[in-house]
Amino acid sequence: MTTRKKEEISRRIREGTWVHVTGSRKNICQTEFFPLVSDLLASEPVQALGEYRHHIRTTRYQHCLNVAYYNYRVCRLLRLDAASAARAGLLHDLYHYETSGFSRRQPSLKHSHYHPMAALEAAEKLVSMNERERDIIEKHMWPVTHPRPKFAESYVITFVDKYCAMLEFLLPQPDIFRQRPHR
Ligand SMILES: [Fe+2]
Ligand SMILES: [Fe+2]
Repeated sequence: MTTRKKEEISRRIREGTWVHVTGSRKNICQTEFFPLVSDLLASEPVQALGEYRHHIRTTRYQHCLNVAYYNYRVCRLLRLDAASAARAGLLHDLYHYETSGFSRRQPSLKHSHYHPMAALEAAEKLVSMNERERDIIEKHMWPVTHPRPKFAESYVITFVDKYCAMLEFLLPQPDIFRQRPHR
């Protein structure tokens, strides 16, 4: 990709007219997925996720957007509740602390067990959710956490979350910390 093209893409992301997910060249602003989550993307708690590094090479905002998008795609393909999968996917890691050093700060807690509950609590303060959405957020770390998911969409996110983590680590990321999240 030429430098000029990169600069153009960066400008569009800054202005919120072009929003990407890792591993796709689509402008997701122009997909049917986008209206399902645009209110959440514009909210302050979700915007604030852009301040946190996640999976080493991206931000938590980008990771949550990636999970929301791929969750939506997989659930739509499987004729599941794709709208709930998208919204809960966006909120599944809605916590506002640095992951690194968590066990030092909270020796009695495991981050892998703690953060789904923290995300669920933050999500419930932000928006009203259905039972499926709550289950998706709460169980997204299964089988590390228990009990097992109640809904098929909650199983989907356990795979999508790991798939996105792999993509985020392996694929070159744009200059993510210089971009402002979508507004
Ligand atoms: Fe998580
Ligand atoms: Fe995640």
